[in-house]
Amino acid sequence: MSDQRPFDDERAKELENAALEAMKNSYAPYSTFPVGAALLDAQGRVHLGCNVENASLGLSVCAERVAVFRAVADGAREFTAVAIATTSDTLTPPCGACRQVLYEFAPELVILLINSKGERARYRLKELMPLAFTDYRAGDE
Ligand code: THU
Repeated sequence: MSDQRPFDDERAKELENAALEAMKNSYAPYSTFPVGAALLDAQGRVHLGCNVENASLGLSVCAERVAVFRAVADGAREFTAVAIATTSDTLTPPCGACRQVLYEFAPELVILLINSKGERARYRLKELMPLAFTDYRAGDE
């Protein structure tokens, strides 16, 4: 069943607030750069993520990927929008690895960026990810 609610400004604001809340659970003692993500699925469910760092720094995972992996593990496959929150003065668009992981499920995804000053920006994943590498099996029959 699909979410009947339109993805309007009110829904966007809810998603941004969810990302700001998720950011509070960030575990980022090494970078001291907390990030929160809230991923809206096609059924209207919101999946939260925050960055989780590790003393072995390369094992750290971004908020966006935590949200996607949680969502998929909970049975979601189609996504409408993701809000990404940081405390940074500048807005923080998703890193390349997270763009690739998001693109797997939702090339049309709306990306909402917000910081704790309340500044915001809005993009489509497609525009942040031109010439994306996608399913290499396409065309095989
Ligand atoms: N980080 C995210 O969670 N999402 C991004 O899109 C960019 C970076 C995290 C990873 C690391 O914990 C910290 O921010 C600094 O890079």
